[in-house]
Amino acid sequence: MSAEEQARDSFVHWLNPFDPAFRDNPYSTYHRLRERDPIHLLPEFNLWCLTRYTDVQAVLRDPRFSSEPTSDDPNLFRNLRESGGELGPLAQTMLHWMPLKDPPHHTRLRDLVNKAFTPRHIEAMRPRIGAIVEQLLEPVVEAGRMDLVRDLAHPLPVIVIAEMLGVPVADQGELKQWSDDMALALDPLQVGAHREEGDRAVREMTKLFERVVQARRRAPRDDLLSALLAAEEQGDRLSMDELLATCVLLLFAGNETTTNLLGNGVLALLQNPHELGLLQQDPSLVRGAVEELLRYDSPLQFAARVAKQDVEIDGRTLRAGQRAMLILGSANHDPAQFPDPDRLDVRRSDHRHLAFGFGTHFCLGAGLARAEAQIALDTLVRRLPGLRLGAEPPVRRPSIALRGLSSLPVVFEGRRSH
Ligand code: HEM
Repeated sequence: MSAEEQARDSFVHWLNPFDPAFRDNPYSTYHRLRERDPIHLLPEFNLWCLTRYTDVQAVLRDPRFSSEPTSDDPNLFRNLRESGGELGPLAQTMLHWMPLKDPPHHTRLRDLVNKAFTPRHIEAMRPRIGAIVEQLLEPVVEAGRMDLVRDLAHPLPVIVIAEMLGVPVADQGELKQWSDDMALALDPLQVGAHREEGDRAVREMTKLFERVVQARRRAPRDDLLSALLAAEEQGDRLSMDELLATCVLLLFAGNETTTNLLGNGVLALLQNPHELGLLQQDPSLVRGAVEELLRYDSPLQFAARVAKQDVEIDGRTLRAGQRAMLILGSANHDPAQFPDPDRLDVRRSDHRHLAFGFGTHFCLGAGLARAEAQIALDTLVRRLPGLRLGAEPPVRRPSIALRGLSSLPVVFEGRRSH
């Protein structure tokens, strides 16, 4: 039986990830799971699905759960047998990634990068992010129509992070494609099917970073890569493999997630014109609005952990070695935490969503993603009056973990000066 058939068989009763209706709107399925079996075991996969806010949050901060891949990890090790026992470049790189490390390894890797992501650094980047948003909108603003994903949400995050790292503009061309290929290779529904694209993407990306590393060794600059290199040169704090893997991680982790936040977020506003109107009347609501959009249609729907020992949650025992899928998208729609959770409310005051995770692995790039989304949304409501859905319907990506759109046609009243 193929992986897809197995998954179909097992999930189908509760949650069929291959069903287009589920991909369009997983939230009604999540509601059913939360009400009927909030700690649900899929025995074929040795996998628990947790859907309640309190349980998801509790596991994210529980040191009895590990983020490190086990030998039966579907992403990293499933293809090991097929490839004759050799890990491919994608898996080898991921073994150095901080989200897949527990403390103390995690702490060391994170501390080295943290400095570049402090609130002060992100604040200092705001003018540059604003300029990139304007630059991306400039060619379309006159026409009165655009594909919000293709023209803005897709290119924005990669330009920002590539600049932060210090990748020269001339070398930025293929980064987004490589990042997309990695996302496809890591999609839980497509495991194995796109391994070669993922491996090629990582190989090419690593080669590019090696070139930039050589250039920065000769002439350091005020960029993230030079800072990481300084850490590498100070001895055993960061190995070259870790440095290159961290660059690949930073490039990848903030890419499709931020694209999805913008795509899902603008779609949600266009489907709720009253809420969009509130934002247009009072752009100071933008910070709260971005938090609500993160909650309402979360760009990353799952996080994964493995129990290091037997752990009891609400009468169920998660055995040592069993995996837990923490459904962030469901936690963020739990009525026990968020009253009337399926309503978009840009003035909602509870912003304790789990869209960026929680605890040790809380998203390193949360401040950056927030800044990009706030600036993009603010610019859209100021510069594109009459913003509404275009004639062509939005197109959803098939992935269920990274939830987002591949196309969002919109129309608005043509040019207006700022
Ligand atoms: C809307 C955009 C984003 C969303 C929804 C998002 C979501 C998340 C989530 C849920 C986690 C925790 C995963 C876990 O606990 O297993 C995470 C971790 C992480 N994110 Fe993000 N992310 C976004 C943007 C970014 C950006 C822009 C960057 C960097 C440029 C980034 C870098 C990372 C890194 C490095 C980690 C691992 C942190 C650690 O293990 O300590 N993310 N992200």
